[in-house]
Amino acid sequence: MAGSLQALKADITRMEVDAIVNAANNALLGGGGVDGAIHRAAGPQLLEECRGLGGCPTGEARITGAYQLPCRHVIHTVGPVWQGGAAGEAGLLAGCYRSSLELARRHRLRSVAFPAISCGVYGYPLEEAAQIAVTETRSFLAREPQDYDLWLCCFDDQMLAIYQALLQEDGP
Ligand code: APR
Repeated sequence: MAGSLQALKADITRMEVDAIVNAANNALLGGGGVDGAIHRAAGPQLLEECRGLGGCPTGEARITGAYQLPCRHVIHTVGPVWQGGAAGEAGLLAGCYRSSLELARRHRLRSVAFPAISCGVYGYPLEEAAQIAVTETRSFLAREPQDYDLWLCCFDDQMLAIYQALLQEDGP
């Protein structure tokens, strides 16, 4: 594995990494939760740049500047709304991590922090979502020759404990 994968409890808007990932919606025009926190901290220029992107399909990602945030870029991804598990949610959530990591690779961003995508308003079961996050970030690190420092940024102790239990297990 080239680099590191760690879980931490923090406000993602304060992280001084190359990129933080935003759990956005398809319009990319802001919202509540981490989306709201990121736009509040970045300032209005972030929304201005997002307006020009024309939205983002679920499972994909788009990259912008970070403006007044301490990080360098924001990677906006749109997670699936949980509908019971038979509507392709797992594949779409995996796509969020893969698309975000592909943008980081393409832009040579070596430190990336993810919030728990879809685990808030979108209602994704926490354990299943965390397993997808760990599986996708681990397989990225395993196949990439460059070193990346990846962060699974939690906003509460419950999510942190779930990630930490998964990170203690060996896995692909
Ligand atoms: N830093 C890190 N994590 C945070 C922060 C923060 N400042 N604020 C919230 N979170 C966590 C939540 O506790 C949750 O675990 O981010 C995770 C994702 O929750 P949401 O922000 O609700 O995102 P999601 O479930 O993907 O729903 C996306 O919510 O805000 C709207 O516009 C957004 O429509 C979209 C939807």
